[in-house]
Amino acid sequence: MPAIEIRPDIYWIGVNDRTTDLFEGLWPISKEGVSYNAYLINDAKTAIIDLAKAFKTDEFFNQIHSITDISNLDYVVVNHLEPDHSGVLCMLRKLAPKTTILCSEKAVEMLKNFYGIQENVRIVRDGESVSLGRHELQFFMTPFVHWPETMMTYEKKDGILFSCDGFGGYGAFVGNIFDDTCKNPDFYERESLRYYVNIVSKFSGPVLKAIDKLTGLPIQVIAPSHGLIWRKDPGHIIRLYQTWAGYAGGDCKPGVTLVYGSMYGNTEKMMNAVAQGISKTGLDVEIFDAARTHVSYILPSLWLRNSVMIGAPTYEGNLFPPVANVLEKALIKRIPSKKTAYFGSYGWNGGAFRNLKQYIESLKWEMTDQLTFCGDPDDPTLKQGELFGTRFANLTLEKV
Ligand code: FEO
Repeated sequence: MPAIEIRPDIYWIGVNDRTTDLFEGLWPISKEGVSYNAYLINDAKTAIIDLAKAFKTDEFFNQIHSITDISNLDYVVVNHLEPDHSGVLCMLRKLAPKTTILCSEKAVEMLKNFYGIQENVRIVRDGESVSLGRHELQFFMTPFVHWPETMMTYEKKDGILFSCDGFGGYGAFVGNIFDDTCKNPDFYERESLRYYVNIVSKFSGPVLKAIDKLTGLPIQVIAPSHGLIWRKDPGHIIRLYQTWAGYAGGDCKPGVTLVYGSMYGNTEKMMNAVAQGISKTGLDVEIFDAARTHVSYILPSLWLRNSVMIGAPTYEGNLFPPVANVLEKALIKRIPSKKTAYFGSYGWNGGAFRNLKQYIESLKWEMTDQLTFCGDPDDPTLKQGELFGTRFANLTLEKV
């Protein structure tokens, strides 16, 4: 995509990625894509804020070339060192060796370790400003949104907050980069939530601290490093992030995420009975087959809802591995306190529930009930499953 002027002399110069399969080598984006947003301010002094992954570098540098001579670039603001934002740094250094890198103190060691860069690096402090001429940049340290060195940059004249990972989301652009001209806002909101839970949620405390710190700034535009630029209603994405970060305290929406796996259909048969029992209460339930759905898409449901029903057969004396994988990722992402219950089929001795309890203890979730059965559940057992589902839903709704 060509450079796009977002305010006079301030340009989006990002890269739209529709070919990477896994973000961070882990999270699927082959259907949704992602953007690496960078920005250029063309003033008496020129500055680029954030860069891009080492990907389509010709396109990236051609965008800069269409606006200014890169060899005269004065500053590069490195808000965050993760290579999706800094991958082209070495190439930029070759093209513009005299450019000063502005970064947080924590970023200095990372610049050396990731790119061997030690020259022309200037540390900026919390609240410090740098003038470009008509535009002035102010820096705010926002550690752990997403890494410890992360900061945000505020442009004072037009009130633009360059927030890097903060307020970002998956989703490549469809020929449009702004919230007010976006024709599919639901897609970007859903993908912002998935991004939040996949990438940022573990740092929900720092996210709330950052939002607190920025309160009072007259923000006119949120310009993150992934996803839409919010110029019509920047408060919308701030409020969404604030709500999602607030769920880390465990006080989230009533509802059940039903995560199950099934080897030969027996646990799946019970899953339908349990789901029927839950649905009878009117409670929201979202169902995922853990063997066929990447955990990236399951985590947002776990984040939003206050209870989890787990269905899994015993597999070689343990919990069915695809379901175990979801719980392992939930542990890494610190998915907060949930009420949970378990059902599953076994062939001879069982073992899944014993194994599951270890995960639940580590997660500090509350195990409330369980229903195990041997082989194929008969009709009375399925009826038991339906009642089991209703009981759990009522517990979630705190009716019992
Ligand atoms: Fe978009 Fe933490 O990198």
